[in-house]
Amino acid sequence: MLFDYAVLAIVLLTTSLSLIYCVVTGISPVPSSRGSKKHMFALLPADFSGEIVDLGAGWGSLVYPMAQMFPECSVFAYEISPVPWLAMQLRGLFQIRRNLTIERVNMLKKSFSFRAETAAVVCYLHSEALEKLRPKLERDLKPGTLIISNVFDIPGWHPEAIHEIDDGFCPQIYVYRVP
Ligand SMILES: C[S@@+](CC[C@H](N)C(=O)[O-])C[C@H]1O[C@@H](n2cnc3c(N)ncnc32)[C@H](O)[C@@H]1O
Repeated sequence: MLFDYAVLAIVLLTTSLSLIYCVVTGISPVPSSRGSKKHMFALLPADFSGEIVDLGAGWGSLVYPMAQMFPECSVFAYEISPVPWLAMQLRGLFQIRRNLTIERVNMLKKSFSFRAETAAVVCYLHSEALEKLRPKLERDLKPGTLIISNVFDIPGWHPEAIHEIDDGFCPQIYVYRVP
């Protein structure tokens, strides 16, 4: 009986926490679709080196495969929501990726800065958040840094390419270079 209550309490707590963070950030931790993931990975050159960042990494559905595909790269996962962040950390117990760093941060906080060493950024955030992040990306990242945005555009930037994909959930991918 006590065990049942404990399980119920954990389910209620994690669900409520996730819902609160969805409301606060305006986006759920829904992962990129299989098709869009494949397409996003293909946009990264096979011999890619340097640091790759996922802005809002959710459950880690992009960062774990990227850390495996690019063992010479350092992959950074930034996530604010505690439940997906914890799930990402726990996944690390079974899928060890020494080149993956997971951080629980609010990227919109004034004090937060992106690493200047970043060579590529992937994200699946709504345009409002991307618009708020844009000045930071312009301030912190080197001009020419590759930005791959799933589904949503970055207001104020002109995309280098827009890839239409046959996918009901994620119909397009925007490619940018930091100006
Ligand atoms: C749609 S999910 C994308 C997950 C993953 N990048 C993917 O494509 O599979 C967006 C994630 O961004 C996170 N997020 C939204 N705003 C954030 C912020 N200000 N700082 C950190 N993470 C944020 C959300 O909590 C959510 O998990």
